[in-house]
Amino acid sequence: MSLMLTPSGKMDDSIVPGVSPQVFSRADFAKVADFTHRKSGIVLSEGKMMLVYSRLAPLLRRCKCTTFAEYLALIEEDQNQAIATVAALTTNHTYFNREEHHFEHFAKHVRGDLVAKALSKQPVRIWSAGCSSGEEIWTLMLTLLGPDRIEGKQIAKSKLVALASDLAEHAVSAADAATYQKDAMKEISQALLDNWCKADGDTLKIGPEAHGLVRFRQLNLLGDWPIKNTFDVIFCRNVMIYFDHPTKERLVWRLANQVRPGGYLYIGHSERVSGQAAELLEPVGPTIYRRRGA
Ligand SMILES: C[S@@+](CC[C@H](N)C(=O)[O-])C[C@H]1O[C@@H](n2cnc3c(N)ncnc32)[C@H](O)[C@@H]1O
Repeated sequence: MSLMLTPSGKMDDSIVPGVSPQVFSRADFAKVADFTHRKSGIVLSEGKMMLVYSRLAPLLRRCKCTTFAEYLALIEEDQNQAIATVAALTTNHTYFNREEHHFEHFAKHVRGDLVAKALSKQPVRIWSAGCSSGEEIWTLMLTLLGPDRIEGKQIAKSKLVALASDLAEHAVSAADAATYQKDAMKEISQALLDNWCKADGDTLKIGPEAHGLVRFRQLNLLGDWPIKNTFDVIFCRNVMIYFDHPTKERLVWRLANQVRPGGYLYIGHSERVSGQAAELLEPVGPTIYRRRGA
């Protein structure tokens, strides 16, 4: 039986006058879930049926598809629309200073060596993998530039490069735009805000010193990574929670190999390092790992 999902999010077996809901059957949902899992690793449980409908219905309309079956056929052929579909189904929830113990660890145990390396003209590389709208990479960059404006300006001119990537183009664009409500940044110290952000009405914009350090890229972590070098630090937090176990293990193994020996991997509070990667990574704090062999 096909279920009708109304735009108000209620399931109904009848057509609601005037709102012309799309027919979205459980079989359609299963196909969308399978497609999303194949393309991104994200697992969609049946409880997400309403959410999937409400996120995809506007895409169907835009592509002038009248049924989900038609839309599913389209996205199997059209790579751009496939990416847009999966991006629409991502969860981009994030905030500044999330899991603050990670930034405290970084400031206390990692930053000093990275700054010394950067100021002695050696390359330093940082990756926020699954950066969403940028709160993670900007918390990290402001922590890195630090409270001393003269030192921060020197770091900003160094060979330190950060990569911020996400599967969802809309998230990457927001990260690059780097403009947030003041209230959203209240967990960042006033000294860091004064040093590295510019106020404009109710918003704060990340200033050129931090912005100049970051490159933005749309990247599916399940696909190929066009990345040659290893990183000193990788943050990949609250991305794997949406994946099944084998996908998590494969990703954490790839991330472990992408960290240089002696470098650090930070993962989300409910995520774990398991499988082969555990041999490469030594736990050095809650959900903080250091690659062995420095
Ligand atoms: C909940 S947000 C986490 C953001 C940030 N790392 C944090 O911890 O606050 C998860 C992000 O992972 C991204 N994501 C999900 N699957 C992905 C994949 N296969 N490749 C790259 N990014 C993915 C989503 O688009 C989303 O922006």
